[in-house]
Amino acid sequence: MKDDIKLLYAKHKELEGKKVTIGGWVRSVRDSKNFGFIDLNDGTCFKGAQIVITPTEIKNYQDVAKLNAGSSILCEGVLVNTPNNKQPFEIKANKIEIICPTTTEYPLQKKGHSMEFLREQAYLRPRTNLFNAVFRVRSEIAYAIHTFFKSKDFVYVHTPIITGADCEGGSDVFRVTTHKFYDKEYMKTATPQNDFFGKNVFLTPTGQLEGEAFALALSRVYTFGPTFRSENSNTTRHASEFWMIEPEMAFYDLKDNMALIEEMVKYLIKWMFDNCGAELEFFNSFVDKGLIERLKLVLNSDFARVTYTEAVDILKKHNDKFEYKVEWGADLQSEHERYLTEEIYKKPVFVTDYPKDFKAFYMRLNDDNKTVAACDLLVPGVGEIVGGSQREERLNVLLDLMKFKNLKEEDYWWYINLRKFGGVYHSGFGLGFERILMYLTGVQNIRDVELFPRTPKNCEY
Ligand code: 4AD
Repeated sequence: MKDDIKLLYAKHKELEGKKVTIGGWVRSVRDSKNFGFIDLNDGTCFKGAQIVITPTEIKNYQDVAKLNAGSSILCEGVLVNTPNNKQPFEIKANKIEIICPTTTEYPLQKKGHSMEFLREQAYLRPRTNLFNAVFRVRSEIAYAIHTFFKSKDFVYVHTPIITGADCEGGSDVFRVTTHKFYDKEYMKTATPQNDFFGKNVFLTPTGQLEGEAFALALSRVYTFGPTFRSENSNTTRHASEFWMIEPEMAFYDLKDNMALIEEMVKYLIKWMFDNCGAELEFFNSFVDKGLIERLKLVLNSDFARVTYTEAVDILKKHNDKFEYKVEWGADLQSEHERYLTEEIYKKPVFVTDYPKDFKAFYMRLNDDNKTVAACDLLVPGVGEIVGGSQREERLNVLLDLMKFKNLKEEDYWWYINLRKFGGVYHSGFGLGFERILMYLTGVQNIRDVELFPRTPKNCEY
């Protein structure tokens, strides 16, 4: 075992003169004849520890002094406080064990690599300051999300990853099969019925439908897990595998739903300020200069609310700025969403009540028979981060909507039954975990907040 560098920063005053052992990855070595310095990082916090080495104390001084960035070492030494220096303490080493020295082939020898290059080195990039910070924040925000829902007495449910229901009603799903597609002879008799599950099944694009069943028993539930979409979108905001937080609440209408979304987003921003201060400062300096100011502003302002119809009227006045012209009945493109939130409102905005034509079958039909009780949350810098709705709880209306969308009742028999057996009005939403991380860190590409991103034609690791 080793001592965490984070702990040394927290307790260095009381550790004066004490023996400590630290281990990690060398960022740099500076040496002269009589002494040298190693900057060691172990990922437990932003800052590294400065280790002082001398040939009199360190038997393998010559080897240590030659270490390249990225080498792993274990160091025993004594902590000495240095209040007049840049770093508050240093470690006077009396033993350095070289565990794995990197060769000159180590791809991250130098600083300042492009994001594209670092994406190709996804197995090493967590060693850089930026990705160190991104993945610590990813963990913190996951914890914050659980804490938020726990504080509101939600039940955490684990909806299945393999599903028979293609909820979003689209074709953008990955099939799960044991059929041998590479075997022409075998495939002559392959059918969904003689496949592993005896029917077509998919990697889940959402846990919502299963979540609804549990909300109608436990009142308030949420899922938080991986979801999969095979849409061929090569954008900075789409991934083929991403994580989603999907709460589902019985006896919540659309307004209650939006109030919860707003409270949650603000809670997560506050969590960043309270628990990820060093990371936030770093992102603000090196990734997005306006980040802190923007997040502070959001924390202290009300999110805007606008119906789709109102949004179309507003956007139409700026049609000269758009590649795709806005008109009622067409879905909003990301250029329109960004314009609304970044130029018109300059803060997060809910767009509600979209036409039923391009929204999912489960959204509650409004009295106008044309629009549904949907709410998308758009934020500056990212665009849509949440998609939600009040669900259609009226059996006949749901069946009509399914017909309208060409969905087969037998594929959704249990979901339909929930409207016969004690169904109540209810609502829910999906927050894209990576999208909120982009928003909180200022990172511009979804590939840079996922550990090993999966996108079309890209599944290297
Ligand atoms: O709007 P979506 O498709 O909604 C649903 O899946 C609902 N079943 C959610 C619910 O009501 N329980 O997706 C919800 C959110 C989006 O707002 C976005 O943040 C994220 O999921 N998302 C993606 N994130 C990364 N890559 C993709 N390909 C994404 N597709 C959706």
